[in-house]
Amino acid sequence: MGMNLKQMAAARAVEMVRSGMVLGLGTGSTARYAVEMIGERLRDGRLHDIVGVPTSTATEKIAKEVGIPLTTLREYPVIDLTIDGADEVDPHLVLIKGLGGALVREKIVARASRQVVIIVDDSKVVQVLGSKAPLPVEVIPFGWGTYLHQLRSFGCEPVLRMSGAEPYVSDGGNYIVDCRFKRIEDPAKLECALNCIPGVVDNGLFVGLASLVIVASEAGIRELRPDA
Ligand code: A5P
Repeated sequence: MGMNLKQMAAARAVEMVRSGMVLGLGTGSTARYAVEMIGERLRDGRLHDIVGVPTSTATEKIAKEVGIPLTTLREYPVIDLTIDGADEVDPHLVLIKGLGGALVREKIVARASRQVVIIVDDSKVVQVLGSKAPLPVEVIPFGWGTYLHQLRSFGCEPVLRMSGAEPYVSDGGNYIVDCRFKRIEDPAKLECALNCIPGVVDNGLFVGLASLVIVASEAGIRELRPDA
């Protein structure tokens, strides 16, 4: 049976995993394939002495199911290799992440990693960030009501993420506002400016964090590295 594009990207990333590594385990449907493949390699003996830091409670559950021993950043403040998905990737390998709601833990883990490998299918590659995906902004519920007009002043249309009739709640106990920008001209500036709003925990812009982006398409796999 052939692999789908997400599986192809995940398989290439998992080839970079070596025994003895501390891994960051990403969140989402693409990262899930990588977590499952790492578990398989542990079970069949191709890998040993791996520990993983999960980026969400969802990934924690999957990792436990497939038999990856888990650890924390307290025990391992530096991670050797993180494999994670993304919602958009631009030509400079700046990312939008967080449609799966795990952006805060994902960014903490990415920043703590020596290498961050991002796995996507080619539908995620864009010329300008914001063209397809909204930018998720995680906020502390206490300030709800004060955020929308502040976020609008950045030129976006912000919408509170819902889970049925209730606001969606992240692993950190916070709300997420999905901000439609259409075009994000200066992601580095926007990332910091948004995080200066009191009550914003973080946002889904990942600037300068990806060391390698693996893009799977029908034509095969491309590996994108940051501008020299
Ligand atoms: C999770 O919070 C996100 O950052 C994911 O990495 C992103 O949504 C990619 O998910 P898929 O692989 O399911 O598209």
